[in-house]
Amino acid sequence: MATLLDGKKLAEEVRAGLRPRVEALAARGVVPGLAVLLVGEDPASVSYVTAKEKACAELGMNSFEKRLPASATENEIVETVRAFNADPTVHGILVQLPLPKGISESRVIEAISPDKDVDGFTPVNIGRMVIGEPCFLPCTPHGVIKLIETAGVQTKGAHAVIVGRSNIVGKPLANLLIRKSINATVTICHTGTKDMADHTRKADILIACAGVPELIKADMVKPGACVIDVGVNRVDDATKSKGWRLVGDVDFNAVSEVAGSITPVPGGVGPMTITMLMFNTVESAEKASM
Ligand code: GUN
Repeated sequence: MATLLDGKKLAEEVRAGLRPRVEALAARGVVPGLAVLLVGEDPASVSYVTAKEKACAELGMNSFEKRLPASATENEIVETVRAFNADPTVHGILVQLPLPKGISESRVIEAISPDKDVDGFTPVNIGRMVIGEPCFLPCTPHGVIKLIETAGVQTKGAHAVIVGRSNIVGKPLANLLIRKSINATVTICHTGTKDMADHTRKADILIACAGVPELIKADMVKPGACVIDVGVNRVDDATKSKGWRLVGDVDFNAVSEVAGSITPVPGGVGPMTITMLMFNTVESAEKASM
């Protein structure tokens, strides 16, 4: 039976380390501030944004929420981002993705000042990450690395297989895993991969970030592997009062029988993503107030 990698507990520990830093800033009259822009009413996005604002409040940080209707124009969205760029009480800017159809996500992201890009999504920060310069690391990949390291999983020389190639998880994660300090060998699987199971079965560390419910089955996992499930999928479930439940990209019950360690959904990667966002926002406030 796999060891459970408790993201909720680790997230609390990391946040406990942030608390004195927030207090030290407050003593100097600075309250770290996160601006959150939500366009439209996608229920999953609303719940992510609510969780991020709650995390700010719990740490004594400010969050400034701006909601725009799904009908907002690209220019309105970009203008909102620019107003946040210019506001000295805002240390971090988060534009919740996905944006409505027809809006250029790259134009909106590129409008975010790299100094306030606490999601690590701007081309400037992605470039800095790839060449190993100081930057804001993207929150989910950073949270995954912390989970793996804290679990004591050997990364040096390990074969890490990532299933999914998104700009916000798969691609940056591959980059972080090949850093000398981590030294994993990385394979990225995607929709064009032939015989994905052939790759996943060779993984010492298997990271599922494809957005496909329960894609990873027990026979795709090497016995003893560390399995990280980044998926957050709502699937219909008439037995629940909401009519749905959350499942990851991993068939949790069956894979738990094979893996050495595994993250649950919820309570695994999700709390770490939010925590690394708080971490980046505190760092940004510290930098701005130096
Ligand atoms: N949509 C899904 N994950 C994320 C995230 O980490 N940040 C933002 N801004 N949008 C998301």
